[in-house]
Amino acid sequence: MSHIIAPSILAADFANLQKEIEMVNQSEADWFHIDVMDGVFVPNISFGMPVISAIKKHVKKTMDVHLMIVDPDRFIADFKKAGADILTVHYEACKHLHRTIQAIKAEGMQAGVSLNPHTPVAVLEDVIQDLDLVLIMSVNPGFGGQSFIENTYKKIKQLKELIEKTGSKAIIEIDGGVNDKNIKKLISAGANALVAGSFIFKSENPTETIKKLKQTL
Ligand code: DX5
Ligand code: ZN
Repeated sequence: MSHIIAPSILAADFANLQKEIEMVNQSEADWFHIDVMDGVFVPNISFGMPVISAIKKHVKKTMDVHLMIVDPDRFIADFKKAGADILTVHYEACKHLHRTIQAIKAEGMQAGVSLNPHTPVAVLEDVIQDLDLVLIMSVNPGFGGQSFIENTYKKIKQLKELIEKTGSKAIIEIDGGVNDKNIKKLISAGANALVAGSFIFKSENPTETIKKLKQTL
């Protein structure tokens, strides 16, 4: 399987959202990455259900929703209604992670868990077989445009080992500071899905930038 490219809408021009979505629809991108921030789990607020529902009307690809919110259980059904296909919660934001994962699947969505840069991969040992996706944060969550944390490569290798050892089907997704300089090394380390925000949307020709990231071997 070739790697998945997931442009992060957080870096798009919110005043021209429909145009930005059409650009991604027409591009070689695979998914839309949607970042939800509550101002509590992370020191920033992005957008919520009404915006996601509006985005969904135009999106022709998988909606990969990344929740950076505390107690995400409260809103699982609402995110399904808003159009999420994949719902990823943070390990650090869940008291009963196993229950949360089951609740996401019960709503018919794919279940993902995200790890902050300081959280070791080993904490997923007992849930890895239930997961469709693991998102390794390669920056501290909360903002786009930050620089990539090099320790990520080590975590990808550890996660790949855990997945292979347990026969898990989980996809490895990397989020934060992804660009044309590090994508190749990330893929060789074992990454299957790459989120990119500023590198795509702040570039001169976002369609071409997506193509370049997608065609990296
Ligand atoms: C950060 C978000 C990322 C962010 C990535 O909290 O989870 O998805 O939008 O943006 P870049 O690619 O600019 O680091
Ligand atoms: Zn994200």
